[in-house]
Amino acid sequence: MSETMNTPVVLRVDKVTAGYGGNPIIEDVSLQVYEGKITAIVGPNGAGKSTLLKAISGVIKTSSGHVVVGEKDCTNFAPEKMVRHRLAYVPQVANTFPDLTVKENLEMGGYTRKSGVGERIEELCELFPDIRKSLKRKAGALSGGQRSMLAMARGLMLDPSVMLLDEPSAGLSPIFQSALWEQIEKVAATGVGVCVVEQNTRRSLRHAHWGYVLVLGRNRLDGPASQLLHDEEVIDLYVGRMS
Ligand SMILES: Nc1ncnc2c1ncn2[C@@H]1O[C@H](COP(=O)(O)OP(=O)(O)OP(=O)(O)O)[C@@H](O)[C@H]1O
Ligand SMILES: [Mg+2]
Repeated sequence: MSETMNTPVVLRVDKVTAGYGGNPIIEDVSLQVYEGKITAIVGPNGAGKSTLLKAISGVIKTSSGHVVVGEKDCTNFAPEKMVRHRLAYVPQVANTFPDLTVKENLEMGGYTRKSGVGERIEELCELFPDIRKSLKRKAGALSGGQRSMLAMARGLMLDPSVMLLDEPSAGLSPIFQSALWEQIEKVAATGVGVCVVEQNTRRSLRHAHWGYVLVLGRNRLDGPASQLLHDEEVIDLYVGRMS
């Protein structure tokens, strides 16, 4: 990596190989996430982006490599243990409980907190103004954009140092996508290192500080997101030449 970020690394993934029992899906993948910064992972369908987030968060086991959160080597820790080491993972689907209210969803997100659940919900209402208005609504009655915000807020209940988001804006209209990215930037501004997998390559690189391109389960290239947006290979493969 030719440049550094001037803030501490909150997540270091070092040559991780993982899959679902057969041939590995991701091989020797490395990346770093920095405090208060947004890191984007882009790449074609099936490249292994979701698999990478599952391997980092402990949902699937890695067969080699290391996952270090802060200073702690957390390789192959179970997901609940990763959460205790301040890593939040927001999967693309099934990330909220539709039959529970928004407030109950947040309480569930904070279930291992010894105290301060109410205070934390209050802080998150400050950070996500839309959530305060819908605290009593069932999560299942929210729009896609509101649910995505709730999933993020829920992940923040335990004060993570790093948050992994899998396609948070999938299926949202452009207006909601903008609102969501604004919210992701606000979360990063509180000091959380955010690692986002996105299908909208252009938008995610516009908002990210650093981007990684994953192809066929391997690191293809990485760099400052603004440079990747102008990289010929990235443009040809994922961004397109328009606007
Ligand atoms: N639960 C699973 N069991 C077996 N193979 C899987 C499983 N989930 C994903 N795969 C395979 O792993 C490969 C990578 O899938 P993955 O979902 O990680 O890609 P992705 O980059 O997130 O793609 P997309 O952009 O479509 O979300 C694919 O070939 C997929 O078929
Ligand atoms: Mg995926």
